[in-house]
Amino acid sequence: MRKIQFFDTTLRDGEQTPGVNFNTKEKVQIARQLEKWGIDAIEAGFPIASVGDFEAVQEIARSVKRMTVVGLARCQTADIDRAYEALKEAAHPQIHVFLATSPVHMEFKLKMTPDEVIASIKKHVSYARTKFEKVQFSPEDASRTERSFLLKAVQTAIDAGATIINVPDTVGYSNPTEYGGIFKYLIENIESKEEIIFSSHCHDDLGMATANALAAVENGAGRVEGTVNGIGERAGNTALEEVALALYIRKDLYQAESNIVLNETKRMSDLVSRLSGVAIPRNKAIIGANAYAHESGIHQDGVLKNPDTYEIITPSLVGVNTNSLPLGKLSGRHAFATKMDSLGYQLAEEELKDAFKRFKSLADKKKQVTEEDLIALMVGQSQET
Ligand code: KIV
Ligand code: ZN
Repeated sequence: MRKIQFFDTTLRDGEQTPGVNFNTKEKVQIARQLEKWGIDAIEAGFPIASVGDFEAVQEIARSVKRMTVVGLARCQTADIDRAYEALKEAAHPQIHVFLATSPVHMEFKLKMTPDEVIASIKKHVSYARTKFEKVQFSPEDASRTERSFLLKAVQTAIDAGATIINVPDTVGYSNPTEYGGIFKYLIENIESKEEIIFSSHCHDDLGMATANALAAVENGAGRVEGTVNGIGERAGNTALEEVALALYIRKDLYQAESNIVLNETKRMSDLVSRLSGVAIPRNKAIIGANAYAHESGIHQDGVLKNPDTYEIITPSLVGVNTNSLPLGKLSGRHAFATKMDSLGYQLAEEELKDAFKRFKSLADKKKQVTEEDLIALMVGQSQET
């Protein structure tokens, strides 16, 4: 089995979520839980961006011991120096240097020619390697970069000393076939004396961030970048909990594993949701409130007979206590009887038939029937008889 490294950028790209701002104490709290969750590398921030970011990276570097702690830097000497200062006390420091390589970014944002971009990569990655053992380079907007130029940029970074190449789908533009193909192409065509780790970094603008990350893994990526709950710029980043579970549940497909401690997933997700203020949608994969809830009668009957019928993830695997069978108008007699039994009502055949009829009539008028409604249904009945 191949081991896939997990690189968490909740505190850097995740904090780019509009309205999200973690203070240093919160960042350290998240970093500690990320370490417990089994993350291999944490992007703690962008040290040159602000004094607050610098201090947070420094504090995280002091606080965690197992994870690699990463600082982001543009292709600028001052950025690299600032990241070096912030990461001085890290047990395992790493720098992440990036420069855009797509035509639109080079022409309009950077106002640099392709040759200038290549020269800058060479100069700054070489400089970063004088200060760091582990240097990661990202050609920003890689998925909209012309392939041979992307290869040239990546090869330049490798020749200058980068050993981790991250391939950002910066604007969530790619799809699994195309994104996987970029990895295949780069891996087949680069030349290196050192072992190079290829890493995915996807955004969710077209809803494909997780699928794209998994396509990268299928095509040779050894590392996946993302955030907890998928928070991040615009539509967000790859949700790492989704990738971790996909690798675990579909080992047969991916033939790969991770260090993620799966039963810490819910705790991890709740912490980030609480501190970021970003609520988790009910239908969110893995950690949404409805992810282990079955409402239709056919599904409830199946799950009561054997959870494998409709549940590919056992809730306790990710730290969720139990599944639930909420009662609504589509629910069936099996789930209703089980619920009544759990509330202490052992109903004989005729009583059950009658109670179920009254339940259905109530359920037609309400989105969800609560335990209180069910008790009221029975109390009303006992008062009538
Ligand atoms: O999405 C992106 O391109 C980034 C880079 C800084 C890696 O976040
Ligand atoms: Zn990003």
